[in-house]
Amino acid sequence: MSTHAIGIDIGGTGIKGAIVDLEAGELVTERFKVATPEGGKPDDIVAEVVKMIDGMGSAADGLAVGICFPAVVIHGRTMSAANVSKKWIGLEAEALFEKQLKRDITFVNDADAAGVAEVRYGAAKGKDGLVILTTLGTGIGSAIIYDGVLVPNSELGHLEIDGNDAEKKAAYSAKERDDLDWEHWAKRLQRYYDVVDALFSPDLIVVGGGVSKNANDFLPLLKLRPEIIPAKLRNNAGIIGSAALAEPKAAALTSSK
Ligand code: BGC
Repeated sequence: MSTHAIGIDIGGTGIKGAIVDLEAGELVTERFKVATPEGGKPDDIVAEVVKMIDGMGSAADGLAVGICFPAVVIHGRTMSAANVSKKWIGLEAEALFEKQLKRDITFVNDADAAGVAEVRYGAAKGKDGLVILTTLGTGIGSAIIYDGVLVPNSELGHLEIDGNDAEKKAAYSAKERDDLDWEHWAKRLQRYYDVVDALFSPDLIVVGGGVSKNANDFLPLLKLRPEIIPAKLRNNAGIIGSAALAEPKAAALTSSK
């Protein structure tokens, strides 16, 4: 068993990857990054991931590979495609990557990977009870983790709120699209997190996604019952969480320390 693993985070706009030290929960290589190919089609994305892992050189040999993706993933098959090509729906995605990479991989939802990373190494480390991570990006991703155990494939970005798909109103992309200042965006977030609290009663909400670096601009504007805090691992959470899920024994040793 190695204490290193490869993590790859596929998003609607970029594909990021690195080799991760699972004891520290840190990247041990540079963060490799390429733009997601136009249209986000399966073959094009797989080709970029193959190139990326090749580019990691001999350090990548023999390491477990975890890949996360913005869709519901049931036993390696992608069941949705909110911000990527519809060709992913119903695709045996894990098998497709394994064929082209010529090695086994672990394939999971992107927000689930980020949630696992924040609970094991980041903002929610050591927190018991119900932790809900939401990532505010192109869409809204969610991870539900109870006493350290992930309940996979929650899709809280697609809660229907006031007749709208929640992420269309409250994701960071909606702030940009509608040119909202922090106060106006915070009003939408307030409504969103009030509904999440009413339905799930979490002990802690962690806010991830690139915009979590600006947490001071919007989290203090929210008045919520549960504690709400910014993610720590930010843009690396998907990479670190995918790697941890790919080498669960090494990651488990770490989290019990
Ligand atoms: C997708 C989720 C994903 C989230 C963040 C949503 O649109 O449905 O599966 O986790 O975006 O990328």
